Amino acid sequence: MADGRADALRQISLFAELDPAELERVAEATKELEVPAGQVLVQPGMKGTGMFFISEGTVIVETKRDHVELGPGEFFGELALMTTDATRTARVRAQTPLRCLALDRGGFRELVSAHPDIAASLLEAALNRLAENAAHDG
Ligand code: CMP
Repeated sequence: MADGRADALRQISLFAELDPAELERVAEATKELEVPAGQVLVQPGMKGTGMFFISEGTVIVETKRDHVELGPGEFFGELALMTTDATRTARVRAQTPLRCLALDRGGFRELVSAHPDIAASLLEAALNRLAENAAHDG
């Protein structure tokens, strides 16, 4: 059963429109991760193997110029999944003890092909993040 994971995903606004059966299907494709404060989850240059939805705690995204805090309901790691050979664009480390759900590349592909609205929201978030980082590159 993916009940605990489905409950965690229900807190993520990206999934607000999914009905319980759809949410359960997404939840089944995820793995729950508990990460201690300080641990690095994503390093620039690494191949993107999955993305992460935060259920408890916060992370710091260290882009070239900026530090951005992300917390419950937010996600990271989507950028490197959008093309087949992209690598991570920033370092992400747990600022506090963290609980999150990880979705691997195959699960991501299923998610975006089953739910075009979610794909569009992910694309919008990714483009905003890239634009923000490009603005800082000035
Ligand atoms: P990815 O490149 O796979 O791995 C690093 C992640 O950091 C990236 O995906 C985004 O999810 C996240 N990220 C990069 N830039 C920003 C930003 N400006 N604001 C928030 N998150 C970001």
